[in-house]
Amino acid sequence: MKTIKIFDTTLRDGEQSPGCSMNLQEKIEVAMQLEKLKVDIIEAGFAIASPGDFVSVKAIAETIKDSCVASLSRALKADIDRSYEAIKNAAAPRIHTFIATSPIHMQYKLQMKPEDVLEQSVAMVKYAKSLCADIEFSAEDASRSDPEFLYKILGAVIKAGATCINVPDTVGYSTPEEYYEFILGIKNNTPGIEKVDLSVHCHNDLGLAVANSLAALRAGATQVECTINGIGERAGNAALEEIVMAINTRRDLYQYKTNIDTKQIYNASRLLSSITGVSVQPNKAVVGGNAFAHEAGIHQHGVLANKETYEIMTPESIGLSQNTLVLGKHSGKHAFVDRLKALGYTLDESRLQYCFEKFKELADRKKDVSDLDLRALVEFDKLDIPAEYVCDTFVINSGNKMTATAVVKIIRGDEIREEASTGDGPVDAAFNAIEKCVGISFTLEDYIVRSVTAGKDAQGEVVVKLDKDGRKARGHGLSTDIVEASVKAYIDAINRYCYEIELEG
Ligand code: KIV
Ligand code: ZN
Repeated sequence: MKTIKIFDTTLRDGEQSPGCSMNLQEKIEVAMQLEKLKVDIIEAGFAIASPGDFVSVKAIAETIKDSCVASLSRALKADIDRSYEAIKNAAAPRIHTFIATSPIHMQYKLQMKPEDVLEQSVAMVKYAKSLCADIEFSAEDASRSDPEFLYKILGAVIKAGATCINVPDTVGYSTPEEYYEFILGIKNNTPGIEKVDLSVHCHNDLGLAVANSLAALRAGATQVECTINGIGERAGNAALEEIVMAINTRRDLYQYKTNIDTKQIYNASRLLSSITGVSVQPNKAVVGGNAFAHEAGIHQHGVLANKETYEIMTPESIGLSQNTLVLGKHSGKHAFVDRLKALGYTLDESRLQYCFEKFKELADRKKDVSDLDLRALVEFDKLDIPAEYVCDTFVINSGNKMTATAVVKIIRGDEIREEASTGDGPVDAAFNAIEKCVGISFTLEDYIVRSVTAGKDAQGEVVVKLDKDGRKARGHGLSTDIVEASVKAYIDAINRYCYEIELEG
């Protein structure tokens, strides 16, 4: 059975989409989860895009051992140099270089003639090859390019040393039948194509990214580019979890496999949405909250009689346990560690101790602590940056016929500051009082509240996105009390903002 390579671009194409930007620590965390997922290639970023991008691609390249690490570069010397500088210490480095090949892109974006695009591509692939053995070449907007021109340019870059050829459906314009024929055309007409990987990269503008990717695999593509939860430019990229589970579930149809550890899919999806604050829609295939829920009576009856009546894959296969009530306040550390292991988490001792203490606090407030509560705790309650500001106490007064007021006491080192403020509701009043304490005022760009489980004692997850003069900061908070979760999230965002400023000196 042929093995299809999974090229993950969550940290590049995904990260560049609105609301999905991540800081260095968050990118490293996602990269480590992608390594656990066993993706073949991690596209860590676009090294020349900014100094921050360079630092994160480099840090990922130096952290990841089991996956190849790639950096994107235009077909320009400066880009390729920057990429190479960032990935040269990786266990398996790859330079990914691209140039547009469609008439519309060449004329209006590049303002270049096709023969100049060809010449530059060959020169840049040769140059990249002089630095690094593994070179991917992408013909941007390939699906709208003249096929004869594509065969020529792809053949030439293979001769120049490319090891992987990628033919993206950049604007999500293709359909499965068309893309299938397109890939067959490339396979049958490109000199040397049998010596390299043929990769596909589909965008989801018409909701066809996964279908197009699968059609391409049937036509002979050997690598597929995708992102966790399908995040990416505009309507997103093909979703990794959907492609992998389609291949696994329809082994009868697709005679190939991937190296992906599917039991890490759910954790990867959760981690990404908790970091970015962008949650997946409930009916999202594979990882949506309702993907394994059976609501209709007839369906429930069928599933009880035989799960396969309505379930084509098991929740366990993506690492989603069906255990609902697990731990309570009498549960010990062993049971806690066992449950975390079953959920796919391995924490170092200090993080484990921290999470265990948080679990005990939660179990005091909430009778039953479910798997979803535990996941939220591990993912949301983080100790990854120094907490410059800590909330000591807060008191809120609010009601339907009064102005909400908040008094917040915040500790910073040896200093204690207490401030009162009013606001448009309890959360706004608390945020205003916090800002008075820290002496900085932010624009609140986004405020997201989500309940972790059902029930009146459910924990609320809060994500806030703040902006101060163009600098963004995101914070998370978790509590059975949503005002407390909001206060925690606001202070977390402020701490992250201060930490980033301090890092920059
Ligand atoms: O969509 C696209 O064409 C891309 C390339 C740069 C690979 O993201
Ligand atoms: Zn793309």
